[in-house]
Amino acid sequence: MCGIVGYIGPQDATPIILNGLRRLEYRGYDSAGLAVLQNHHIEVRRDAGKLSKLEALVADSPVHGHIGIGHTRWATHGAPSARNAHPHLGMTGEVVVVHNGIVENYIELRDELSAEGVVFNSDTDTEVIVHLVERYISSENGLVEAARKAMSHLKGAHGIVVISTREPDKIVAARIGNAGGVVIGIGEDEMFVASDMPAILEHTRQMVFLESRQMAVVSRDGLGVFALDGEPVPYEIQNVAWDPVSAEKGEYRHFMQKEIHEQVRSLTDTIAGRVDFEAGHIRLPELNLTPELARKIRKMYITACGTASHAGMVGKILIESIARIPVEVDIASEFRYRDPIIDEGTVVLAISQSGETADTLAAMEEARQKGATLWSIVNVIGSQAMRISDGYISMQTGPEIGVASTKAYTAPLVDVYMLAVLLGELRGTLPEKKRRVLVADLRLVPALAGKCLDREPQVEMIARALMNTSHCLYLGRGINMPTAYEGALKLKEISYIHAEGYPAGEMKHGPIALIDRSMPVIVIAPRDPWYEKMFSQLEQAKSRGGTVVALATDGDELIAGVADHVVWLPETPWMLTPVTSVIPLQMLAYHIAALRGLDVDQPRNLAKSVTVE
Ligand code: AGP
Repeated sequence: MCGIVGYIGPQDATPIILNGLRRLEYRGYDSAGLAVLQNHHIEVRRDAGKLSKLEALVADSPVHGHIGIGHTRWATHGAPSARNAHPHLGMTGEVVVVHNGIVENYIELRDELSAEGVVFNSDTDTEVIVHLVERYISSENGLVEAARKAMSHLKGAHGIVVISTREPDKIVAARIGNAGGVVIGIGEDEMFVASDMPAILEHTRQMVFLESRQMAVVSRDGLGVFALDGEPVPYEIQNVAWDPVSAEKGEYRHFMQKEIHEQVRSLTDTIAGRVDFEAGHIRLPELNLTPELARKIRKMYITACGTASHAGMVGKILIESIARIPVEVDIASEFRYRDPIIDEGTVVLAISQSGETADTLAAMEEARQKGATLWSIVNVIGSQAMRISDGYISMQTGPEIGVASTKAYTAPLVDVYMLAVLLGELRGTLPEKKRRVLVADLRLVPALAGKCLDREPQVEMIARALMNTSHCLYLGRGINMPTAYEGALKLKEISYIHAEGYPAGEMKHGPIALIDRSMPVIVIAPRDPWYEKMFSQLEQAKSRGGTVVALATDGDELIAGVADHVVWLPETPWMLTPVTSVIPLQMLAYHIAALRGLDVDQPRNLAKSVTVE
């Protein structure tokens, strides 16, 4: 999971950058590098592997200067290697860049730049950024203007930091969307830049957080913040408490809110290193899935609790549809007591954020004893679930602290999607052309999540309208039926409002009797194969006097004409709609609970990891 550190000031930049990168190690990474301006020349040191390798490189070939940037990389485009590690230097050697995020349109940009004679030295998407800055830098355009113009070409969400020999007195940093933050640390006659506060907290507590589509021009003794159109914008200096917990929370009021906002980054990390976009392949090496095993599977069970079980329900639809394996989803506390039919052609996949949930572990034990192949999707590295599995997928979300699970829900949604594609390929149920499309769609995920997050003010308004309700019904169908369950679970666990998730088609068999003016109905109706059915459900709820909040795809006038409130979702490939449709529901639950003044991160009676039966 990528990290950025930058420094400008009287001290030697190199040890400050190395220390800062060390403090970001917990996020995980596969290569590291730094660039320092030394005697009017940019010196780059970078390598694959751990920070100790970078430190050894620097020890062998020291570099000193008063301005520099560093990066830890978690590979997305291009394997972990020295040439793909950041920072990336331009052709003239005058500009150098580090970057978090994915340049969605990098193939088009690379082709365009190659046609102009640019020679690429890495397989990364990031390298286009440095060449774009170089394209624009000239006697008329300084570094700031060149970086601004370069950024106008980029699609996706990004944190970017640039320095140049042309203007050795400044660092330019920008945040576009939610690919992690960009924070400026203000010192005395020195300044720091980082993706995450812990990297620079030992130097200063005075922090400025960039908003999306803002750019900071940082010099030793000054800071200017601008919108990407060049207009200066006012900024607020926040005095961060010297307490690691509140420091971790950064600019957010609660961990849950922070974790909701981290999803662009956690989803980027989820696909990092696992997707070969060029060849259209998925790699999940820790799963130990051989072609023989893939062909041998006759049945799968997905077992989990709570939120994780909802991810399993989405997994069932994807695996059945793409890999044609029958899948049953079992709540772990039931699975362990119901004597499930298991043989050597059965795979049991456990999903668990903590990897320590007692019921899930017991279900895995049951499966082990009956001779199943045991897989897990787990967030906490080294947890029991991971250790006892024959193969695993790690969620790559980083620590999740809020009791209500958010980023550890969307990550396994993408994991089960990748698993389904890999199984489909190995079992020969997924034609190559379709596989390439499904793999290419993964590239869109982080930015789509970012678009959902951008709509938070709209969701907050709806939260104000619903905050005093006592009940709420969530309806979904097909691949978004689990989204209804998950939305309802989020609301009930943190706001203590009674909420039920229901398969929309079941309404007429009973729950429709509940609908009246006091019952808000949340209808999840993105453009997926169940859209038309959902629309008629929405009309039925409306005609019974319910207050209808619809989740609908941008531009859906039909729904806008009927619903009381609409939360707009970006157009998303249908198999990935559970990712985009759940994010507004997470935000809705969060804002309702926060407006009610509740303890969002530690709701009553709940524990983050349920290690007892
Ligand atoms: C999620 O918001 C809940 N706190 C809870 O349902 C949780 O998902 C469940 O306890 C399973 O936890 P696990 O993923 O750590 O196994």
